[in-house]
Amino acid sequence: MARAAPPGGFDLPTGDRQVRRKIIDLRDVTVTVSSTKFSLPFKLKRTITTIVQGVSFHSYEGEILGLIGESGAGKSTILRCITGQMKPSRGTVSVAGIDVVHHKNEAIKRFGYVPQLELISVYDHFTALENVYYFGKMYLSGVGDEQIKQRGKEVLSILGFKEALMGKKAKYLSGGEKKRVSIAIGMVHDPEILLLDEPTTGLDISLRIQVLNYLKNLNKKLGISVVIVSHDLEIAQYCTRIVLLEKGRVIEFGDPEVLINKLLPCEGRAIKLEVAELNEEIIDSIRSLPEVKFVIKTGRNDVKIFAEDIDKVMISKVIEHCDNINIPIASITLDRADFTSYYRIRSKLEKEKNQTVDGSAQPS
Ligand SMILES: Nc1ncnc2c1ncn2[C@@H]1O[C@H](COP(=O)(O)OP(=O)(O)O)[C@@H](O)[C@H]1O
Ligand SMILES: [Mg+2]
Repeated sequence: MARAAPPGGFDLPTGDRQVRRKIIDLRDVTVTVSSTKFSLPFKLKRTITTIVQGVSFHSYEGEILGLIGESGAGKSTILRCITGQMKPSRGTVSVAGIDVVHHKNEAIKRFGYVPQLELISVYDHFTALENVYYFGKMYLSGVGDEQIKQRGKEVLSILGFKEALMGKKAKYLSGGEKKRVSIAIGMVHDPEILLLDEPTTGLDISLRIQVLNYLKNLNKKLGISVVIVSHDLEIAQYCTRIVLLEKGRVIEFGDPEVLINKLLPCEGRAIKLEVAELNEEIIDSIRSLPEVKFVIKTGRNDVKIFAEDIDKVMISKVIEHCDNINIPIASITLDRADFTSYYRIRSKLEKEKNQTVDGSAQPS
């Protein structure tokens, strides 16, 4: 589908001659909520809480953007601001160049929204295709029945549905299949952007990967821009851009590879060390080596070591150190940081920074 360029929806990044269109653009978004409770002596006390603070990020057309953070970080609140379900107390939100706060009815036509599992409305007594058709009829006034069915079939087939499965009642579908029906419902009106709240929650690991692969497929085949909100770090490998949230604030924003390279020495290269029996003392002793920057536990008896240089000399130093403290090595290999190791180090640093600011603890 050819997309029209909205006024003000373009941006020319430095050093990039190609004009790219900003599809999502949040600037300085702050959300406060007020609540009242009784306090003695019979007074109503009003408290204002800031749940999202000064959030800015953007993504370009055709990208997959991931909003990652722990539970309570503010992910769904930000998504509600993007969909217009919630108005920010400050800041601006634009979707496909349209100001969501002032032109909500125009903006909602541009995106498809797939809510989190508990809020999904898929009718059990309808088949997969009937569900997509039913919601398509609601969204698409003036579009012929055949056209809606065709669109439903197209999207369901990109999402891995064969004819027989399309005709199966939703009550007989598995969790992963139902999730894909809800994604197809979000796609039926041919939106420019697909917004998904925790699309992999509640699915086992192979289904999580399957759903993410299907989303990647939709993005590739239909060119749709995608925003995934999740506390699942697996999504990072599917994203072109990541927003890391912590307590309602953006702590990092960028290409996941660039973020890894920015934080970790040697472009994320690491030494993976496995010993016979690992404990905190051993980890601390490795951490105390002068060249070592970060050490994280990656399994019951193994760690990843990030150091200034990852080379033969460094490997020898680690072997020598283990020898000195009488720790037998089971294996030692060269490795790389994945997004999970990056996230664990980055969020630990953030927590230590906040504790220092609070004055409640010193960094380790
Ligand atoms: N309407 C509201 N009133 C009060 N607090 C809220 C409201 N909505 C969300 N919160 C709080 O804001 C924080 C962020 O919530 P949410 O955006 O749902 O986080 P996430 O999706 O990252 O788990 C949570 O601590 C939540 O309890
Ligand atoms: Mg949420």
